[in-house]
Amino acid sequence: MATPAHRVPVETGSSELPLGPTAWPIVQLLRYARRPYGVMADAAREFGSCYTVRAPGLPAMVVFSDPDAIKDIFTADPDALHGGEAQGPFLGPLIGWNSLLLLDGARHRRERRLLMPPFHGERMQVYGRVIREIADRAIDRWPVGRPFRVHPEMQAITLDVILRAVFGLDEERALAPVRETIQRALRLFEGPSAPFLGIPVLQRELGGLSPWGRFVRCKRDLRRILHEEITRRRAHGTAGRTDVLSMLVDARDEDGAPMTDDELFDEMFTILGAGHETTASSLAWTFCHILPRPDVLDRIVAEHAHVVGDGPVEPEHLPRLEYLDAVIKETARLTPVATQTTRHLMVPTRIGRRDLPAGVNVSAAIYATHHRADLWPDPERFDPDRFLGTRPEPYTFFPFGGGERRCLGAAFASFEMKVVLAQVLARTRLRLAPGYRPSPMLRAITVAPSKGVPVIRDR
Ligand code: HEM
Repeated sequence: MATPAHRVPVETGSSELPLGPTAWPIVQLLRYARRPYGVMADAAREFGSCYTVRAPGLPAMVVFSDPDAIKDIFTADPDALHGGEAQGPFLGPLIGWNSLLLLDGARHRRERRLLMPPFHGERMQVYGRVIREIADRAIDRWPVGRPFRVHPEMQAITLDVILRAVFGLDEERALAPVRETIQRALRLFEGPSAPFLGIPVLQRELGGLSPWGRFVRCKRDLRRILHEEITRRRAHGTAGRTDVLSMLVDARDEDGAPMTDDELFDEMFTILGAGHETTASSLAWTFCHILPRPDVLDRIVAEHAHVVGDGPVEPEHLPRLEYLDAVIKETARLTPVATQTTRHLMVPTRIGRRDLPAGVNVSAAIYATHHRADLWPDPERFDPDRFLGTRPEPYTFFPFGGGERRCLGAAFASFEMKVVLAQVLARTRLRLAPGYRPSPMLRAITVAPSKGVPVIRDR
């Protein structure tokens, strides 16, 4: 995995950028959109653990998959390496410029502190029963003996879960129109234009006729619905409520000013988007890996019987479902839904023994690091045992990114995935539809398995 010596144009101390693919930036971007994992694997084979890629209108990006370099990225002063600035050109038009994902500096730290509590500790545990009930309702709908697509089913579950976290547990009246509008937007991410919705140069409205135009219309509808809900909460008060929307409505800055409607909308849209699409795609990948493996399924079922018994899975069971946890981690290693996470250098910075100039982007390459044969023997094999009895290193395994910007919902997503999988695998017997081979597809910014993962339920 070391960079071939003849390809290293820069010695330590120089600020020239490392070599990388030489195709035009637009070609590099389109190739990534078509084969997100394949392109990263090809580049790692050709250039090793550090190379430079280019995309139209964006700064050059130096990609790293060496744990020392990843550590440098995640432990750097966040004021020197800006995550928001790096993601802005891609995500700004998609999720809004006031989103936590795009903020840097003091405002990022303040809003992160504000958004953290509902997704951790006791507040998160409250959702255990709700997640189980939402999963049960979905399972009840699944046909026996006929193929159906399991990825959309996972999306429906994770969307309902995050809607309840954002709006409160008992707010079906507020949830229904939001759910309908988000599902309309999601359908755009399923069509042939899906990979291109995240590409800045292709984000053109064309009078509402282009895929991007239709996405913008969905966002406008959602903004109107959320605005009505915000107005209602402001008028009736939020006493006793612990949901994200109420917290944001009550939040005040140092001068005592509330968040503007635009700020509120962008944060809610971020949580709704980041909080469900990623989790649903991760669950969909898990089925791709475990359904063809009776040995893995048997161990999951045996552990479930031992820890949970015949009753429903409860939050207190989860820490003891160690094999299921290893299955989820191995899925995130082999098929991470986010292939990389990026930062923009605000000042010249030394990363992985290279001096890089201000103004470039750097990427911690999740996919490439997770596939290094020197870190993960037989890296293409799905082997949950790798994660049993060990704590993975944060710079060799980082599906949720790292440092001060590590995914805000990592604990929540892991909790939710365990409850959903435990419930599905205890109640059903699924197998992949005959002839189905998953291939990775870019859905705007996450990588999901192709064709919605058709499965057949035998029980
Ligand atoms: C399996 C599911 C998920 C995966 C794989 C995932 C992955 C990621 C990654 C890679 C990042 C970038 C971290 C970095 O830059 O170092 C991130 C950030 C973020 N995620 Fe997640 N995520 C998941 C679920 C969730 C959920 C459930 C929420 C809902 C609360 C969420 C909310 C966020 C937010 C708000 C950020 C921005 C954090 C910041 O910039 O400070 N994610 N996620």
